[in-house]
Amino acid sequence: MATRVRSFSKINLGLAIGPPRPDGFHGLTTVYQTLALHDVVTIKARPAAETSITLTANHPSVPSSARGDAEKNTAWRIVSGALKKLDLSATVSIDIEKLLPVQGGLGAGSANAAAALLALERELSINLPEDVKLELAAEVGSDVPLFLLGGTVLGLGRGELVSPLPDLPSKPVVIAIPEVGVSTALAFHELDKRRQSLTFQQGTDRLELLSRALAAIWTPSAAEHDSSGIARRTSDLAEDQLLALVRTGIENDFEEVVFSQHPSLRQIKRELVGSETSGRPLCAGLSGSGSALFGLFQSEADARAAQQRVQQSGTRAILTETLLRAPYWSNIFL
Ligand code: C5P
Repeated sequence: MATRVRSFSKINLGLAIGPPRPDGFHGLTTVYQTLALHDVVTIKARPAAETSITLTANHPSVPSSARGDAEKNTAWRIVSGALKKLDLSATVSIDIEKLLPVQGGLGAGSANAAAALLALERELSINLPEDVKLELAAEVGSDVPLFLLGGTVLGLGRGELVSPLPDLPSKPVVIAIPEVGVSTALAFHELDKRRQSLTFQQGTDRLELLSRALAAIWTPSAAEHDSSGIARRTSDLAEDQLLALVRTGIENDFEEVVFSQHPSLRQIKRELVGSETSGRPLCAGLSGSGSALFGLFQSEADARAAQQRVQQSGTRAILTETLLRAPYWSNIFL
């Protein structure tokens, strides 16, 4: 028997990036939101005298055993790390069915790792404590821990310090998938260069600004009761929180560098946004360091119209929706 896991993707609803830290990583403040769009990770594992991990994938850009670089794959790394932590040897095969773009800023590689860890636990009938799983996830990549929470997630530190936020409402999302791939490490590097040349000094302030704005949005307050003092429905509150987040300005600090390196991406954002008359998105922008862009819409009709605008200009566009925490977990195992 094998265990199959949906490896859901994410977008960033706001991403403030600070200056490089002494360890070379950048401090950041972000709100991650998981999406229904996913890859599928399949794992077979059984205890053995010696550990052997093989990895297959249906996409040539994914590190695999056939390419000879499986140990670079996030899923391979987390399985290896978990077995070491458990002091277990096992024969493990990992298969990744890629539907999501590689280097898209949708966290696909990171989600593959989280999915592999969950599948490994089930295959070997083990339950690692949550804190151990979060630690293993953070060792593999800054964007991996968020996928152990799902839904709407606050990301601090280098992105790996995650806290669940009350879910924002489910909304249709259009993901535009340009042909170019963006290396996250390079995008950070370019951002540093640009900020140095502009004597940019607001890095830490930006993190604090966004953190404060987010705290205000999610602080329990009078907004939880209507004018007659009656508690408001959670769904109404979530709608208000999303609108407050949009008003705060869902900006992504990567856009300035990535758009100037790839001007076509700025144009795709314009197509997602559309015109006054076309049912504008609640927000739109680059996800992570890109190159995927998203538009978050109030209605499916508006989302479909945006999907068509993007496709007509020759860029692949997928219609999906934001995935709340409860359905994230109830749909994760196939
Ligand atoms: O953590 P992850 O492996 O996903 O990060 C990829 C690269 O992006 C890192 O090697 C680092 O160069 C850069 N990075 C960063 N600051 C972060 C996250 C990633 O500089 N907060």
